[in-house]
Amino acid sequence: MDTWIGLMSGTSMDGIDAVLVSFRENAVRIHDTHSIPYPEHLRHRLMLASQNQATPDEVGELDTLTGVIFADAAETLIRNSSVDKSSIRAIGSHGQTLRHQPSGPSRFSLQIGNPAIIAEKTGIATVGDFRSRDMAAGGQGAPLVPAFHQFFFGSKTEDRCILNLGGIANITWIPSNPASPVTGFDTGPANALMDAWCLDQTGRAYDEDGHWAQEGIVDQAMLSDMLSDAYFDRPPPKSTGKEKFNLGWVKTLVQRHGETRPEDVQRTLLQLSVITAVRQMPQSPAMTVYACGGGTRNRLLMGELSQALSPIRVLDTAELGLDPQWVEPTAFAWLARQTMERKPGNLAEVTGARGPRVLGAIYPA
Ligand SMILES: Nc1ncnc2c1ncn2[C@@H]1O[C@H](COP(=O)(O)OP(=O)(O)O)[C@@H](O)[C@H]1O
Ligand SMILES: [Mg+2]
Repeated sequence: MDTWIGLMSGTSMDGIDAVLVSFRENAVRIHDTHSIPYPEHLRHRLMLASQNQATPDEVGELDTLTGVIFADAAETLIRNSSVDKSSIRAIGSHGQTLRHQPSGPSRFSLQIGNPAIIAEKTGIATVGDFRSRDMAAGGQGAPLVPAFHQFFFGSKTEDRCILNLGGIANITWIPSNPASPVTGFDTGPANALMDAWCLDQTGRAYDEDGHWAQEGIVDQAMLSDMLSDAYFDRPPPKSTGKEKFNLGWVKTLVQRHGETRPEDVQRTLLQLSVITAVRQMPQSPAMTVYACGGGTRNRLLMGELSQALSPIRVLDTAELGLDPQWVEPTAFAWLARQTMERKPGNLAEVTGARGPRVLGAIYPA
């Protein structure tokens, strides 16, 4: 039996999620999992770098430091697992995005966390740099999870919308009719703005369970101003990141609306995440929405989502056999398998690429 490792850290920069999995037909078996939060000082430096506040020397150093932590995550996962190490065919490492600029004259998407270090420390072939080939083929380089969502969550009887609530939210629409295309794109912020405002105002990295937001009320004028951002009306393909949806974006809006309590802003940002996701979903009364990512642990967010979508059902991906925390790292284990087998990992209709492409760079064992 071949096994695969997936390593993921998203725009939230909260830390690395690692899985050891195997695949059979359309089934996934998770053998072991491991998470490592970034040390606070590293997270802070990554945040600064992601805001363009780092020299090339610093970016190089961060590439090494995160590469070592990604490798540590894989090594701990392997050490604590009863799975035979020799069965592990490859590690798929998304890396840590520092910047994602999918449009403009010189498009790029920069992930750090040197895969050479992971391959060297583990002795296992490592696939990294998943986004750049899709971008070279004219695509957004994102989102890349929809192909895996289709593989694992596709159903012949139910239209499904997978909603990933990371720092940024992305949806994958999987119609039950195989003749209809799978579509997907980033809908905008999920946790990114809430985290940024919470950190700025309270010093806490995120608003646990939405408790703080719960104390506030939605500022309707500010919300409609936020909703007027052109990103939300743009047709797909589209993808975004913290280059756009960041603390500066929030502060500009807050300043425009004068006296607002900080908890009201937090509540408004939560509502923004809900409404932008819901409005951009296909209007299909028969679908079921399955959520994944860290945002599923925010009870207020999930409650508001259910209310906004009612009577459409909102569940999380555990209902389909995959815990919400492990969907993304499992997707990168699957993408590594696609690469090793020289199969495409992108969905061209999602990213806008000229066609399907074998993604990533292989760092041999
Ligand atoms: N208990 C919780 N309450 C509220 N938010 C949470 C909770 N647990 C995790 N989160 C949110 O989930 C984020 C991490 O989600 P994740 O899916 O790892 O995102 P990313 O892919 O961007 O790293 C955290 O930054 C935080 O905003
Ligand atoms: Mg994360």
